Amino acid sequence: MLHQLKYQIENEDELDEIVAGLLKPEKTISPKYFYDERGSRLFEKITALPEYYPTETELGIMRDSIDEIVALVGEQASLIEFGSGSSLKTRILLEHLDKLAAYVPVDISEEQLLASATELRADFPNLEVLPVLADFTRPFDLPSPTVMPLKNLVYFPGSTIGNFTNEAALSLLQVMHQEAGAGGALLIGVDLQKDPKIIERAYNDSAGVTAEFNLNMLRHINREYGADFDLKHYSHSAEYNEDEGRIELRLIADTKQLINIGNERIHIGKNEGILTEYSHKYTLESFAEMAGKAGFEVKRVWVDQERLFSVQYLERS
Ligand code: AVJ
Repeated sequence: MLHQLKYQIENEDELDEIVAGLLKPEKTISPKYFYDERGSRLFEKITALPEYYPTETELGIMRDSIDEIVALVGEQASLIEFGSGSSLKTRILLEHLDKLAAYVPVDISEEQLLASATELRADFPNLEVLPVLADFTRPFDLPSPTVMPLKNLVYFPGSTIGNFTNEAALSLLQVMHQEAGAGGALLIGVDLQKDPKIIERAYNDSAGVTAEFNLNMLRHINREYGADFDLKHYSHSAEYNEDEGRIELRLIADTKQLINIGNERIHIGKNEGILTEYSHKYTLESFAEMAGKAGFEVKRVWVDQERLFSVQYLERS
């Protein structure tokens, strides 16, 4: 199954992509380059930090609303997760949606996909797990479960939607709309706008884990793509942009730097930043409006008491 589907990945040259980002007016590297092995470990550490509210809050919302979620989804759905889940949030769904037709994790990383499929098959022996190796930002083919699904439920936890610009988020929601199919639904975690101090604290933790996570991207790129970033000259920055409603992560050079990467030599000025991540925060209204443009109607929204985070159930309108 995996190998049949491998062709679905557009073989973009990642080095070219990184170089192109560094040649832009604002130097940019995609947040997908955070997640080498060390980066994934550091992200796990972030989710357990006292300042990083999203993970714990979303988990709490899932636990509190699971009965309602189960009632909305109904029986014999196919659960299609964008990203490969081995997380507690996915497990809550798998434990309670007990008549699932199948679980279909979709991920661009074969390693992640296989590891989580193996784990989940062991823990849920009655569940058909059908991993799809694909870039979920573009339409992909769904496998056919042995049991005929009555509906597709697309699952996108973690407010990963926040990484995408408004335009890219809309296009991703359109892909989800297509993959959900007739009668399908979307269950999505969406981080909310709030006091910027709370948001900035979550991305500037006192233990410095987020700083290490951010810097690790340069280490990853040096190792995998043969660049020569001098890590000691870059520092972590995370600022909330109120106009855009998003956290912006950058790596700031403390002196001017020359970087060799591919066939390029790239200059970075003193105090110049490399943009490494956006994390958009939504209002319930702004998210509903964008989802509406993609053909989704918000059916139910669950939030925590402090209204930090939301889990939302949407249906095709
Ligand atoms: C995985 C994209 C949801 O935006 O909060 C955490 C990544 N970056 N700390 C987020 C992240 C820095 C995270 N997402």
